[in-house]
Amino acid sequence: MLTIAISKGRIFADSIPLLAAAGIEPAVDPDKSRLLIIGTNRPDVQLLVVRATDVPTYVEYGAADVGSAGKDVLLEYDSDGLYEPLDLNIARCRMMTAARVGYHPAGQRLRVATKYVKIAQRYFAAQGIQAEIIKLYGSMELAPLVGLADCIVDLVDTGNTLKANGLEPRELIMHISSRLIVNKAAMKMKHAQVTEFIGHLSQFVANA
Ligand code: ATP
Ligand code: PRP
Repeated sequence: MLTIAISKGRIFADSIPLLAAAGIEPAVDPDKSRLLIIGTNRPDVQLLVVRATDVPTYVEYGAADVGSAGKDVLLEYDSDGLYEPLDLNIARCRMMTAARVGYHPAGQRLRVATKYVKIAQRYFAAQGIQAEIIKLYGSMELAPLVGLADCIVDLVDTGNTLKANGLEPRELIMHISSRLIVNKAAMKMKHAQVTEFIGHLSQFVANA
C-alpha cells in the first residue's frame, strides 16, 4: 500500500492532475466529504487528508509514505528526516514582508508579526536587521493596523488580501511552491512503488 498525505483546499485541487498522471483517482472529493482516509481507483493507493502544516509530521513518522507540502510549511517544520525529491510547482505564491501603505518604522527594533517565525528570523538576521518576531496563527494583516507590529511576513499571491486591509507588499523573501516529500524508510522499503510514483509526477511537472 502507498499512503499519500495531502491537505484539502488549494493543494488538493492542484494535485488532482498530478495524481491522475500517476494513474490515481480519489474515490471522493475531500472538500465535499468528512472522510479522512480516502480510497482510490487503485487498491494499492490511499490518501490521508491532513492539515497542511501536519503533512511533514505524517510523512516523517511513516504514517504516510509520501506527501505534498508547501515550502513555507517545510521550512518551518525544519527537519532533515524527510526526502524532498521534487518541486511540484503547484500552490505557487511568494513569502513577503508587508506594511501599512506608506508606513516607515522609526524605532531601532522592528516588530514583525507572522505565522512563519523561522523564515522571518532567518530573513531579518541575514539582512542584519534587529527584529522582534511576534508569533500569530492567522489574520496577520490585522497586526500592523492595530499597532501590534510594524510589519508582517506572510504569503502573497494576487495581493488582494493585503490591499483589502490597507497594506502593501514590501520585500520578497522567497518564492514558494509545494514539494513532494518522502519518508526515508519508505524510499528503501517501498522503493519500486515510490520511485514509480515520483517518476510519473516528475514527467508531468516537466511537461506542464
Ligand atoms: P493549515 O490548514 O494547516 O492552517 P493553511 O490554511 O495555510 O494550513 P492552505 O491555505 O490550504 O493551508 O495553504 C496550503 C499551502 O498553499 C501553503 O502552505 C502555501 O504553500 C500555499 N498557499 C497559501 N496561500 C496561498 C495563496 N494565496 N496562493 C497560492 N498558494 C498559497
Ligand atoms: C493565504 C495567505 C494570505 C492570502 C494571500 O491565505 O495567508 O492571507 O492567501 O493571497 P492573495 O495575495 O491572493 O490575497 P488563505 O487564502 O490560505 O487563507 P487562510 O490562510 O486564512 O486560510
